[in-house]
Amino acid sequence: MWRCILLIVACVYTAQTCPCVRRNFGNDRIVCVCNATYCDNTQISNITGNGSYLRYTSSQDGLRLEKTQGDFVKEWTADLNSFQIDPDTTYQSIEGFGGAFSDAAILNIKTLSSDTQENLMRSYFTTAGSNYYFARVPIGSTDSSIRPYTYDDHSGDVGLERFSLAVEDLLYRIPLMKKAQEMNPEIKFLSAAWTAPPWMRTNHNYTGYGFLEEKYYQVYADYLVKYLNKYEDYGLKMWAISTGNEPYVGTLNLSHYGSMGWLPSDLGKWVANNFGPTIRKSKHKRTLILTYDDERTILDTFVDKMFENELARNYTAGLAIHGYADTVVPTSVLDEIMRRYPEKFLIVTEFSTVTSQRGNVISSLGSWSYGEYYVLDIIQNLKNWVIGWVDWSLAADEYGGPDWRQNFVGASIIVNSEADEFYKQPMYYAIAHFSKFITPGSVRVGLTGGKELVKAAAFKTPKNEIVVVMYNNCSAQQDVIISDKERGQIRLQLPAKSIHTIMYK
Ligand SMILES: *[C@@H]1O[C@H](CO)[C@@H](O)[C@H](O)[C@H]1NC(C)=O
Ligand SMILES: *[C@@H]1O[C@H](CO)[C@@H](O)[C@H](O)[C@H]1NC(C)=O
Ligand SMILES: *[C@@H]1O[C@H](CO)[C@@H](O)[C@H](O)[C@H]1NC(C)=O
Ligand SMILES: *[C@@H]1O[C@H](CO)[C@@H](O)[C@H](O)[C@H]1NC(C)=O
Ligand SMILES: *[C@@H]1O[C@H](CO)[C@@H](O)[C@H](O)[C@H]1NC(C)=O
Ligand SMILES: *[C@@H]1O[C@H](CO)[C@@H](O)[C@H](O)[C@H]1NC(C)=O
Ligand SMILES: *[C@@H]1O[C@H](CO)[C@@H](O)[C@H](O)[C@H]1NC(C)=O
Repeated sequence: MWRCILLIVACVYTAQTCPCVRRNFGNDRIVCVCNATYCDNTQISNITGNGSYLRYTSSQDGLRLEKTQGDFVKEWTADLNSFQIDPDTTYQSIEGFGGAFSDAAILNIKTLSSDTQENLMRSYFTTAGSNYYFARVPIGSTDSSIRPYTYDDHSGDVGLERFSLAVEDLLYRIPLMKKAQEMNPEIKFLSAAWTAPPWMRTNHNYTGYGFLEEKYYQVYADYLVKYLNKYEDYGLKMWAISTGNEPYVGTLNLSHYGSMGWLPSDLGKWVANNFGPTIRKSKHKRTLILTYDDERTILDTFVDKMFENELARNYTAGLAIHGYADTVVPTSVLDEIMRRYPEKFLIVTEFSTVTSQRGNVISSLGSWSYGEYYVLDIIQNLKNWVIGWVDWSLAADEYGGPDWRQNFVGASIIVNSEADEFYKQPMYYAIAHFSKFITPGSVRVGLTGGKELVKAAAFKTPKNEIVVVMYNNCSAQQDVIISDKERGQIRLQLPAKSIHTIMYK
């Protein structure tokens, strides 16, 4: 329950919103604290008329989805610094935002009392929370697990007779996914395996330099369909399944990442001859096939090579990309890949803050710079054809774990099981500035002009509302103008380092 709605009566009758209970760690480090009886949430108000707009703001100095409203100014001055909205120029349609039910997420969430768990799940999967429409689901263990496992660790079991889901799935992941589905019945699950069972791999290990043995190409495709069957038995259908997490990283001989390597030509062969036909012949024929699922770094060369196999190209619906190289690899690779394969869609399936030091997550708890890192990445990707953006673990502990490979990653929500509370970091609000407002079926629309150090993207929702998300990356206040030919101008002051979502009809 959103207990605050019950306890703080004022919330119900005024804004239907409960404010952030801040915990300040000094400098720019602020989290919002939630527990069994209280959790901040924001029900988005309705826009009252043509001439007004709503604005929600989060900032380095502590605002979190703070609502203000105002009216358009009915005039039109040409101003180089103004952002011009052009609703008639349209780009890709957006499918949604989300996070991953990694083992780190599910094990941490399950350490909380049931009321606190409820508040955490609502924070992500209801409209008063982040309004997530996506969740990524690992097939077996990932780096963020407490142990390595697959669903058939019995060497030589080519008939997959001993296939079974893990304790992690049965006790934790499936119940939480059901809960998410209850909160948002339209949620879309996308799954990905980090590795085939070790006995199917050339190096007989979960990690390290290893590939799928060719003699197991069909067995592994059957293994994945078996997984889809088992989850469907629990009422959980996958919207999409990936050909595997980080196939390129898996060729780099990095023993501390749990991925299986694929050479692009082999992956093309496997999709064309085994995975593609096996999925299409199964009862999951509508489950979309995503491929790549790796950094932008060699997206074009990998996909070109793989799609030399035309059948593999035909089986593939979308290209999944991870965001860890986004600050160094230019977005032009995304434009280029869409030019070459216009029938595919692009989706970001993984992004997070990573650290090799166990103490780093707690010592940077609440840091605004991570929120900034997120908001800039989301804007950058949405402006370059991406239709969805999915965060890594929905939750982690205060050390960024658990993680059996000692590859600690932060998360939008950090769980403190001892105190039975959890902390919403700036990253949580950075995503919410998009996910709460840009509902599935929204299209990105034209936005030109603007101001240096203010990054922005604009969308039109299925209800024909315009949503503009802006980040002032300057350490000082900036004044901006948003111009819409039909409506007039919105004049705004953007505080230093602040995120804004502006909505109007
Ligand atoms: C939960 O949070 C609310 C709001 O901050 C606080 O009043 C209450 O004491 C907290 N409950 C516990 C058990 O800490
Ligand atoms: C917005 O309007 C709809 C009806 O159009 C109503 O159901 C909903 O409760 C309103 N939301 C708020 C926050 O007032
Ligand atoms: C709002 O604007 C639209 C298009 O400009 C117009 O068709 C509509 O009548 C207006 N509605 C109100 C309530 O002013
Ligand atoms: C991968 O690392 C192992 C052990 O460090 C080494 O024996 C092997 O040659 C390496 N393989 C490649 C392709 O670099
Ligand atoms: C798998 O690799 C890990 C480290 O990369 C190593 O410690 C372990 O012994 C290997 N296991 C097998 C069965 O080779
Ligand atoms: C792939 O799809 C295209 C377009 O539908 C079709 O023309 C082509 O024959 C297909 N290729 C193969 C190998 O099936
Ligand atoms: C945002 O500002 C920081 C400094 O505060 C700077 O390092 C970073 O490059 C800026 N990013 C963009 C995309 O402008």
